[in-house]
Amino acid sequence: MNEAKQHWDADIYCRHADFVPALGRPVLDLLGPRAGERILDLGCGDGTLSVEIAAAGVTVVGVDSAPSMVERARSRGIDAHVADGQRLGFESEFDAVFSNAALHWMRDADAVLAGVARALKPGGRFVGEFGGHGNVAAVKVALSAVLQRRGIDPRAHLVWYFPTAEAYRERLEAHGFAVSTTELIPRPTPLPTDMSGWLDTFAGPLLSALPEAERAAARDEAVALLALALRDDRSRWTADYVRLRFAARLSRDERGAAPAD
Ligand code: BEZ
Repeated sequence: MNEAKQHWDADIYCRHADFVPALGRPVLDLLGPRAGERILDLGCGDGTLSVEIAAAGVTVVGVDSAPSMVERARSRGIDAHVADGQRLGFESEFDAVFSNAALHWMRDADAVLAGVARALKPGGRFVGEFGGHGNVAAVKVALSAVLQRRGIDPRAHLVWYFPTAEAYRERLEAHGFAVSTTELIPRPTPLPTDMSGWLDTFAGPLLSALPEAERAAARDEAVALLALALRDDRSRWTADYVRLRFAARLSRDERGAAPAD
């Protein structure tokens, strides 16, 4: 979790977004944690998936920029720390780095990849999933419309990073990774509550561009627009998620040396 102007509250997150770790489980299968490994969970959130990785006999370290999430992960027994994923300070100590639903909050993807490459042992894995090109497109359009109506250029506030599969593959390769997969997966996602709850949980960077007194009305206007596209005839909401899933292995360190084996 990341980015200034996005406030994270572990209880609100659990109420409106408990599907996030639940739907991240296929990424755990792709990671294939092995007993005895040391794995970094980058953007560990409340630690739900960190606990599952640890259950494989792995030593897990979690980092997240949100103190309330780190506190929750710690209460689950995870060695979690508040840290910016764009400034990782680890050196050649992990067999793998895992990340679910966090990298789209980190705009400086090159800084993230440089930090991940430094944190991995030679040959270490980087496996994860985050929002890819086209993710929450309807939501972006509706929020942009309500900001524009209030005289605000939304582009400065659209902080999310949703690359294409090709662009992310190229970035991974530029940082010394051999890429086995980068795949865009459309994943319409039923919401456990509703679009107001989703916007309250995730749309901080856009809605906080407005004076506090105007935010609730702007959010409700966005919800009314989004109902045309994302609410069904039984009033259930489905968010227009697109995931970018990837798996890669560090094939040289940041100084250009190839791994021993
Ligand atoms: C996502 O998980 O795709 C996402 C969550 C919050 C804001 C934007 C995207």
